[in-house]
Amino acid sequence: MKQADFVIPLNWKNDSFRQIKNPKTLANPASSFPFSFPVKPYQNPESFNLSKIIMPLGDNLGDKSDSRYCGVETDFNDDMPHVLSYNINGGFDFIVAPLMEPGYRPSLINTASRESSVLPFAGSDLVLSPAQWSSHVVGKISSWIDLDSEDDVLREDSETALKQELAWASHLSLQACLLPTPKGNSCANYARCVNQILQNLNNMQLWLRIPLVKSDDEDDDSVNGTSDGMVVEPTDSWELWNSFRELCEHHSQLSVALDVLSSLPSVNSLGRWFGEPVKAAIVHTDSFLTNARGYPCLSKRHQKLLSGFFYFSIQIVLSGKAVHKLPVGSLPSGSGQADNNAQQAQKHEIRSYLDYVGYLYQKMEPLPEQERFELGYRDFLQSPLQPLMDNLEAQTYETFEKDSVKYIQYQRAVSKALVDRIPDENASTTTVILMVVGAGRGPLVRASLQAAEETGRKLKVYAVEKNPNAVVTLHSLVKLEGWEDVVTIISCDMRCWEAPEKADILVSELLGSFGDNELSPECLDGAQRFLKPDGISIPSSYTSFIQPVTTSKLYNDVKLHKDLLHFETAYVVKLHRLAKLSPSQAVFTFTHPNYSPNISNQRYKKLRFETPVETGSFIVHGFAGYFDAILYKDVHLGIEPSTATPNMFSWFPIFFPLRSPVYVKAGSPLDFQIWRCCGNTKVWYEWCVTSPTVSPIHNCNGRSYWVGL
Ligand SMILES: C[S@@+](CC[C@H](N)C(=O)[O-])C[C@H]1O[C@@H](n2cnc3c(N)ncnc32)[C@H](O)[C@@H]1O
Repeated sequence: MKQADFVIPLNWKNDSFRQIKNPKTLANPASSFPFSFPVKPYQNPESFNLSKIIMPLGDNLGDKSDSRYCGVETDFNDDMPHVLSYNINGGFDFIVAPLMEPGYRPSLINTASRESSVLPFAGSDLVLSPAQWSSHVVGKISSWIDLDSEDDVLREDSETALKQELAWASHLSLQACLLPTPKGNSCANYARCVNQILQNLNNMQLWLRIPLVKSDDEDDDSVNGTSDGMVVEPTDSWELWNSFRELCEHHSQLSVALDVLSSLPSVNSLGRWFGEPVKAAIVHTDSFLTNARGYPCLSKRHQKLLSGFFYFSIQIVLSGKAVHKLPVGSLPSGSGQADNNAQQAQKHEIRSYLDYVGYLYQKMEPLPEQERFELGYRDFLQSPLQPLMDNLEAQTYETFEKDSVKYIQYQRAVSKALVDRIPDENASTTTVILMVVGAGRGPLVRASLQAAEETGRKLKVYAVEKNPNAVVTLHSLVKLEGWEDVVTIISCDMRCWEAPEKADILVSELLGSFGDNELSPECLDGAQRFLKPDGISIPSSYTSFIQPVTTSKLYNDVKLHKDLLHFETAYVVKLHRLAKLSPSQAVFTFTHPNYSPNISNQRYKKLRFETPVETGSFIVHGFAGYFDAILYKDVHLGIEPSTATPNMFSWFPIFFPLRSPVYVKAGSPLDFQIWRCCGNTKVWYEWCVTSPTVSPIHNCNGRSYWVGL
C-alpha cells in the first residue's frame, strides 16, 4: 500500500490521532506546560492569615486557569514580608514589586567601594521562603532604565542594573519579571541586552510592559498631522512589541504585560493581542469609572476586554492608588472571625477594585461541558490521523462513537436520501442497497438502520472495513443486535472490493479536519465503481477552509523541535490562544460521485486575505484550516467557525505553520497559495505566502508531511 521511500515522522506514527483519544489513557497534555502561575499556595502560616492566602477571584465553573489569580503592583519597600502580607491579606494573590532601591545607579558607586558594596535590593533572599518568592512575587525591574538613551552613562548604568536585577530575580527563582516599557521607538540596544540574558535564563519569563495604545488613523487628527504640516506617524504600541520580539528572535520566554489605560483602541486591533504571548494585563485604578453607589466599575468595553483576558488565562494586575472615595459605612462590621478577616481585607487601599474584578470574573458564563472536557487539549499540537495507512485503535473508535451529534446528522441525511429514493407507495416492496464504506466499529451502520426504521424503508447493508481489528467488533455487534439478515460485513479495502451488486447509497465518514486530508477523495473514487449510476453518496461534497492566524504559542511549540520537518507539518489542534485575522475562505471542494472522465484530485488555490486598516499591522504564524461537508441536500456537518455544527467534537481544526512569521502592514493584503499534490503512494500539501513577503514553499515533494495511500 505504501513504500518506505519517504521520511516517516518517527515517534508520531503510533500516537497520531485526528480526534481526541480517550483522555483517561493519555497523559494530560497540559502538564507539559512549563509552569503555571502562581505554582502553589503560600505555605507559611506564621506570618500571614492563612484564610486570606490564595484567594482566587472566585470560582468560575470549569476555569482552573491562571486568570483566577489577581496581582497588585507595589512601590519599592525594603520590608518585603510586610509588603507581601499586607497585599496577600488584602486579597491579592501576588505582588509585582521592585527588587532594587529606585535611587540606585551603578555609576554612583565609586570604584574603591564597589568591591565591598552591597547592592540595594529589597531585603535578603531569606526574608521570604523560596516558595513565597516564586509563587507570590513578580520582580519589577527599575523603571528608570533606558538602554537606548543617547546619554552614555545612563545607558551603561541601565545595562548594569538590568543584569544585576535579573540575576537577583533568577537567584530568587522568581517566575517572572516585569521589564519597563522601552523609552522610545528605538529599542535595539534594550532588546540586545534582554536577548543576551534570555540565552542563559532559567525558567523565568520576562514580561515586557507595553501600553495598550493605538491611535486610530482616521479619527485622530492630533496624531496624523500637525498645524505646521508635519506628518506624525500614528502610534501603535503593538509595533513596539513586534520590533522588540523580532530583535529577540521570538524567544519563548519573552512575553507581554499590557498596561490597560482609560481609553481603549478599536475592538479589531485589540483582537491581535490574543494571539500574542500576553501574560498579564495591568489595569490602572484611574481607568475605573464610578457606579451609582460610588464604587469603582469599568466601562462596557473594558469589561469585555477583561472577559477576554480571563478567557485567555491572562492574569490581571491592579495598579495605582485608590481614586474612589467609598461611601461612609461601607466597611463591614461584626465580631466573628470571618468579619475580622473581611475587615482586614477591606483595609487594603484598593480592595474595592479587586472586588470589582472578582465580580466580573464570577459573572462570566461558565464553560460548557464540552469546552471543559477539551481544556487539556487547548493549543496542544497533534499529528493528524492516517486512517488509511494505519489501523485505528479501539480507544480512537471509542472517542468517535461518543460524538452523537455526528451520527444524528448522518441519520438525518440517510433518512432524507431514503425518502427521496423510494416513494412511500414502494416502501414495503423495494429494498435499498446501502453500503457503509469505512464502517469502523459500526456506528454509521446503526445510524443507517435507524434511518430506515424511522422512514419505514427496507434496507440491505454492506459494511466495508479494511481494519481487521474493527471487523472483529463489527461481527460481534451484528450478532449482538441480531442484524445477521440485514448486514453483510466485508473485510476489505473499498478501493479493491469486487461488490456482488451495486449500491443505491454509499455512506462514508473519511473526513479529516481539512476535509480531504484523510484521503476521502481517493477512497471514494475507488468505491464509486459499485454505486449505481444514479446512486447517492453521503457525503455528497466537502470543502476545506483556511484563514491566517497569529498564534505565538503554537509557533514557539513548533520551533522547540528545532527542525524543518515540524515547520512543514500540518497539525490537528484545539486552537485557543490565537487571533483570527481575516474571515476564512474556501480552499478545495470534492464532490461524490465524480464521473468526470479524467479524475484528478490534485488541487491548487491562491487566496488573498484582506484585513481592515483599523486592525493595524499584525504577524501571521500560520493558517487555521477547517472543513464543511454537505451530507445530503440541506444536511451538513462541519467545523468552519461561521457554520460549525454545534456540540460536535469529533474534529479539531488543522494548523499549517509558517517557517518564519510574516509581518503584514496595516491594510495590506496577504496572499497565500496552497497545493494538494498526489503521487503513487502519498498525498501531501505544499503551501507558501507570496505577499507582502515571499516565504519558501513549505513541504516540497511532501518531504516532511504526507498522507500515505
Ligand atoms: C474516520 S473512521 C470512521 C469510522 C466509523 N464510520 C465512524 O464514523 O465511527 C474511518 C474508517 O474508515 C476505514 N477506512 C479508511 N480507508 C478505508 C478503505 N480504503 N477501505 C475500507 N475502510 C477504510 C478506517 O479503517 C476507519 O475504520
